Amino acid sequence: MTAPVALADVIGLAGVSLAYSGKAGTVLALDRIDLAARPGEFLAVVGPSGCGKSTLLKLVSGLLAPSAGEVRIEGRPVRGPHASVGVVFQSPLLMPWRTVIENILLPIEIRGERTANYAAAARQLIELVGLGGFADRHPYELSGGMQQRVGLCRALVTDPPLLLMDEPFGALDAMTREQMNAELQRIWMERQKTVLLITHSITEAVYLADRVLVMSPRPGRIIEEVPISLPRPRSLGMTETVEFAQLANQVRRALNAAGGID
Ligand SMILES: Nc1ncnc2c1ncn2[C@@H]1O[C@H](COP(=O)(O)OP(=O)(O)OP(=O)(O)O)[C@@H](O)[C@H]1O
Ligand SMILES: [Mg+2]
Repeated sequence: MTAPVALADVIGLAGVSLAYSGKAGTVLALDRIDLAARPGEFLAVVGPSGCGKSTLLKLVSGLLAPSAGEVRIEGRPVRGPHASVGVVFQSPLLMPWRTVIENILLPIEIRGERTANYAAAARQLIELVGLGGFADRHPYELSGGMQQRVGLCRALVTDPPLLLMDEPFGALDAMTREQMNAELQRIWMERQKTVLLITHSITEAVYLADRVLVMSPRPGRIIEEVPISLPRPRSLGMTETVEFAQLANQVRRALNAAGGID
């Protein structure tokens, strides 16, 4: 038996499994996942490499269809890629010949809408992420962290209610990553999105999330949910507190218990 999906949930997965089939056989990547995200909730998913985190994100974004179970977004079954989500990938995947603002407006072009109608929103986002003055620069003129912020703007430009992020800050140095974490919290609080963040960083997960979901090694299952009730806005200084360390340890213990990390 799987939990019923509530209509009010932004994301609802019930009994979702995903098997990849290839010439060499079948790989069960995800095994009976139940997951629900309420409107405005910030969820972080942690788990060992290869446990199916990216697969989970592809199911929610509609890029993959489940082998079993059901995926719903805003109460409706997902049948393919849909407009309710913005996706931020591990690498920003910017087009080098386009300027910052042209990259940000790409999803609008893909949707066949007039970019002029979104130019003001794009410029506002550029300011919001601290890239004021860089709208007409090209990606090679930006640092890695700045490029990642352009990727974030591109995901936000259609103002989707749901933001999916797959290790978005994994390639950044520790200090830039902390800055991006603080920025993401600010944007999330300001814009009231529902967020599903995949990360390898326990600190990042605890700092940002309302709930941290811990996955087992493949085939991925959700083995523990750690609620994070630290007050908001959270400061980076909070990561040094005893409460924070206790929560981080709880996540780490769950990962260890499943044989995820030592
Ligand atoms: N297109 C594919 N075809 C076949 N198998 C795949 C495919 N994509 C992923 N897999 C397998 O499914 C499992 C889960 O992959 P996935 O990319 O979801 O893991 P992940 O948790 O995101 O890992 P990482 O932390 O390294 O990014 C892996 O064991 C992988 O071998
Ligand atoms: Mg992955």
